[in-house]
Amino acid sequence: MKTVASILALLALGRSKKLLEDGKIQADAPSCVKVRCPKAWVPKVGHHTLEGSTPEECCDKTCELFECTGAYKANEDYFGNVGSSVQACCDKMCGSEYHCDVGYVLADSRAAGTTKEECCLPKCELFNCTAPWAPSAAKKEVVSDEPEQCCDQTCAMVNCSLPDWVVNESKASEVGSSPGACCTPTCGNAKTVCPFGHLVQEGAKNKSSDGTAESCCTKQCKAHVCSAGWAPDVSKQEDFGEDDGDCCLPTCKQFDCSLEDGWAPSNVETVGSNETQCCVATCKQWTCNATESWLPVPGKENATGSSNSACCEPACSIFSCNSAEGRIPVQAAATVGGSSDDTCCESSKCTQIRQNMTVLKADQHCNDLSEAECETKYFLHADGNSSAVVTCTFDDVYKLCRYDVAAAIKGGCSGMDAK
Ligand SMILES: *[C@@H]1O[C@H](CO)[C@@H](O)[C@H](O)[C@H]1NC(C)=O
Ligand SMILES: *[C@@H]1O[C@H](CO)[C@@H](O)[C@H](O)[C@H]1NC(C)=O
Ligand SMILES: *[C@@H]1O[C@H](CO)[C@@H](O)[C@H](O)[C@H]1NC(C)=O
Ligand SMILES: *[C@@H]1O[C@H](CO)[C@@H](O)[C@H](O)[C@H]1NC(C)=O
Ligand SMILES: *[C@@H]1O[C@H](CO)[C@@H](O)[C@H](O)[C@H]1NC(C)=O
Ligand SMILES: *[C@@H]1O[C@H](CO)[C@@H](O)[C@H](O)[C@H]1NC(C)=O
Ligand SMILES: *[C@@H]1O[C@H](CO)[C@@H](O)[C@H](O)[C@H]1NC(C)=O
Ligand SMILES: *[C@@H]1O[C@H](CO)[C@@H](O)[C@H](O)[C@H]1NC(C)=O
Ligand SMILES: *[C@@H]1O[C@H](CO)[C@@H](O)[C@H](O)[C@H]1NC(C)=O
Repeated sequence: MKTVASILALLALGRSKKLLEDGKIQADAPSCVKVRCPKAWVPKVGHHTLEGSTPEECCDKTCELFECTGAYKANEDYFGNVGSSVQACCDKMCGSEYHCDVGYVLADSRAAGTTKEECCLPKCELFNCTAPWAPSAAKKEVVSDEPEQCCDQTCAMVNCSLPDWVVNESKASEVGSSPGACCTPTCGNAKTVCPFGHLVQEGAKNKSSDGTAESCCTKQCKAHVCSAGWAPDVSKQEDFGEDDGDCCLPTCKQFDCSLEDGWAPSNVETVGSNETQCCVATCKQWTCNATESWLPVPGKENATGSSNSACCEPACSIFSCNSAEGRIPVQAAATVGGSSDDTCCESSKCTQIRQNMTVLKADQHCNDLSEAECETKYFLHADGNSSAVVTCTFDDVYKLCRYDVAAAIKGGCSGMDAK
């Protein structure tokens, strides 16, 4: 509006020139024509027609010379304007007392302005954050009306189309700005940490993870503890598997060695599933070499062994009886197992007894016998484990048949068992 005033002044000046050409001005009066206006002064309206010799008489001060103070501040835009008042030359400042509405703050107390639009700025609490932006309580006091300053980013703005991530639509309205906060990792994502002995299978790498190792990781054999009767299969440690059948080998504990078939258990902890691996042969499978005079030992069939020496005993036929002490081999020595004098030998007297004598009948005694019959009879004596053959002998002095205890054959004779 000050500029409009200047144009009016110029128009007025033109009109005064016309007046001058009409010759209505006296030539000898001191004329403002000769007065040059100093800097920041402008010629008064009708300057050429005015009488005067000082700037005050001929010129007007411009706002450039006016000092704005207090609640007013200068504005260079007005410097060319004629004027000497705050109204003409200054801008009113908002002032530190300016009252802004709730939700607004005074922008700059020294800024020019009188209206709320000029003096106040809105705080974010007034800003309406709409999708894809989310309201932020923390930013309420921030002075701005831009979503970038007033709102939080939502997951809808995050690009989840990245390797190892997939979109989680349910997070679209949640606050977040990174794939980690907004997207669902796939099982192949580095965020998936499997426990010891577990891995993400190749085919599961693109599967979306629910955040738990269980949903992504598969057990490997190295994490499987084999049950009793099973041993780890070392060749399968890296394989995926979760039971004994997948990861373990049966041990001999599961294999029944059959004594009936001549096998006894051994190596229960080792891996195996047949007799060769799990059992040891018993003497039941061993044939004692009779040609070499080895005989089976009764009751030894379940003992482990695979040799004549382990499973058999030598026949008495190869035992040497001491003939000098009157010892001779027992009857059928080739079929009797043993290697001691007790077992393999008997008294040389046994031959005569066997050939020429008979055993006393039960409840018969030597005393009952006649002289003729006396020395053809013998008695089998059993006392605990010891046995003896006692012959009847005729006592010529007393004319009696009696037991010849002094000549008893200790150990008896083979084939003569006291019952
Ligand atoms: C925010 O915008 C929505 C939709 O334009 C409108 O319904 C709601 O009233 C607005 N809220 C405020 C506080 O302006
Ligand atoms: C997301 O990122 C991928 C890889 O950088 C790019 O190829 C794709 O165009 C992006 N998508 C959007 C919607 O920006
Ligand atoms: C997707 O986001 C929702 C909401 O945050 C969450 O509960 C869910 O677990 C996420 N789904 C997956 C597969 O990550
Ligand atoms: C997994 O995704 C990648 C890239 O999207 C693709 O090349 C690969 O064939 C996928 N693998 C499976 C098992 O689907
Ligand atoms: C026992 O099993 C092993 C390994 O499977 C095999 O090599 C061997 O021939 C088997 N022996 C018998 C007697 O079946
Ligand atoms: C028994 O021993 C004889 C003599 O040493 C030998 O020739 C024979 O082969 C053996 N028999 C067996 C079944 O080993
Ligand atoms: C050997 O073992 C079998 C099976 O257990 C049994 O029947 C048999 O009586 C045993 N033999 C001996 C001599 O112990
Ligand atoms: C058995 O008696 C007969 C005659 O009575 C005798 O010749 C024989 O030598 C006796 N035998 C023995 C082994 O003593
Ligand atoms: C008789 O033999 C048995 C077994 O062979 C033995 O235990 C016992 O001590 C023996 N008794 C005597 C009196 O020698």
